[in-house]
Amino acid sequence: MSKEQFIKDLSTILTDNLTIEEITPLIETPKDPKMGDLAFPAFQLARVFRKAPQQIAADIAEQLPAENYESVEAVGPYVNIKLKRDAIGQSIIEDVLENPETYGSNNDGEGGNVPIDMSSPNIAKPMSMGHLRSTVIGNALANISKKSGYNPIRINYLGDWGTQFGKLIVAYKLWGNEETVRENPVTELVKLYVHFHEVAEDQPELEDQAREVFKRLEDGDEEMLELWQWFRDESLKEFQKIYDLLDISFDSFNGEAFFNDKMQPIIDELEEKDLTVLSEGATIVDLEDQDLPPALIKKSDGATLYVTRDLAAATYRFENYDFSQSIYVVGNEQRVHFEQLKAVLNKMGHEWANNIVHVPFGLITKDGKKLSTRKGQIVLLEDVLNEAIDLALKQIEAKNPDLATKETVARQVGVGAVIFHDLKNERMNSFDFNLEDIVQFEGETGPYVQYTFARAKSILRRGEYVRGTDFNYDLTDDYSWELVKKIEQYGSVVRRAMRDYEPSVIAKYVIQLSQLFNKFYANVRILDEDDQLQSRLALVDAMTVVIKDALALLGLQAPEEM
Ligand code: ARG
Repeated sequence: MSKEQFIKDLSTILTDNLTIEEITPLIETPKDPKMGDLAFPAFQLARVFRKAPQQIAADIAEQLPAENYESVEAVGPYVNIKLKRDAIGQSIIEDVLENPETYGSNNDGEGGNVPIDMSSPNIAKPMSMGHLRSTVIGNALANISKKSGYNPIRINYLGDWGTQFGKLIVAYKLWGNEETVRENPVTELVKLYVHFHEVAEDQPELEDQAREVFKRLEDGDEEMLELWQWFRDESLKEFQKIYDLLDISFDSFNGEAFFNDKMQPIIDELEEKDLTVLSEGATIVDLEDQDLPPALIKKSDGATLYVTRDLAAATYRFENYDFSQSIYVVGNEQRVHFEQLKAVLNKMGHEWANNIVHVPFGLITKDGKKLSTRKGQIVLLEDVLNEAIDLALKQIEAKNPDLATKETVARQVGVGAVIFHDLKNERMNSFDFNLEDIVQFEGETGPYVQYTFARAKSILRRGEYVRGTDFNYDLTDDYSWELVKKIEQYGSVVRRAMRDYEPSVIAKYVIQLSQLFNKFYANVRILDEDDQLQSRLALVDAMTVVIKDALALLGLQAPEEM
């Protein structure tokens, strides 16, 4: 393609000085497209040639084969070139339309397994905004890694173990009622949990009881296990409603409890390798040499901890999946925990620990409020999603009242709006959201992108477009050309998103693509009945292929009409 040609021509001229691999990262895209499509800066050659970069740029411009370019120009220390629009544009569009399923993909992952720890809410607690982030970022990274040749494995590492189950069981036995829990599991269980904390302030002996009950659970006491299983099943049913709305599924629900019987071998190994010390009766791994707090492996009463279970889970994932990377999409507040996890595995001599990647993210608040279960102040995620769907329905009814599929589309748009808003922000940013703003059809929103797609599809229908018609569009106007160039960038955008574990790269790209399409639509008479009609529609078609694929990577549907 175009850029390759430029690089090849440069390498021929600079054959004694720079290789193709060295030239490639130097190529720039001028901010102002009027300056050119691509630029080569000559600074780094000044020393070799003992000449001013301006002079070098002029020499190179002189030597470039003019017939390969629309124009070649030396501007100061830069060689700026414009590409031949018609030939290149045609090859890009053909590339998209001949391989619509795979356009933009690569095989960097070479089939390697990538377990992705995502969502991972805690049983008997409502799913929080943080878990929503983990779910949608994890799902997008799974899609992006698939497009990059990896084999993603979506793991929901449920928080279904730990001392809080002791508290819950004690509370349930004291104040619980089977009927009400069945009716509203998460709400009731949270109430019990909150009540436990209130009462335990005056009656600290409750905490001891809870510890004891959890110990019995860990030791496999049947009655305790039965209650635990019941809480888990009921909670999972409620989480499942949210996953259904989001249209996200998992390959594994092996949560913390699954590793209850897989920790002892790890503890033994730690002891054999002389990595543990006793500290006030508790077993710890000292990590002072890494500037980290000690990893707490076992409490003085023998109860295991969060990091102990993660050690077992990480080992299990390595043994089961022989992963090329093991990703954890978990809030930034757990950064130290994952550093400790890697540090302990490293001390154990596991080189594969270096392939563990913690992908942290910032905090979301809704209307300025953080979600907190302890205080019983809950915004239920399911309500948020349903409210978004209602808002989407209202807008569709205003815009397109006769749409037969409006219920389905409202779901795709409402849920899509929430997902998109989450993903368009760089993941480390914390942000607040207000539903009214994000379910807008204007602005940098999911609905805006979906609406652009639907509009393009309707143009294709009106123009009675048939894919595969011979392409003869000259693409010389700037609107078409900018759109083509954006389409061409898709593959490198996918690579960047994967490299940085950053779905926002895709979200930002698809907004820009939509904006360029809408400019094109406003300025080019697409549906004019001339001999280039089908070719202009082919450009529209190629754009819809890319929008749909990019939305799918993010986990959004693309309705054909809305
Ligand atoms: N359940 C935990 C929480 O809600 C998140 C688990 C993250 N995954 C892990 N392997 N530690 O905070």
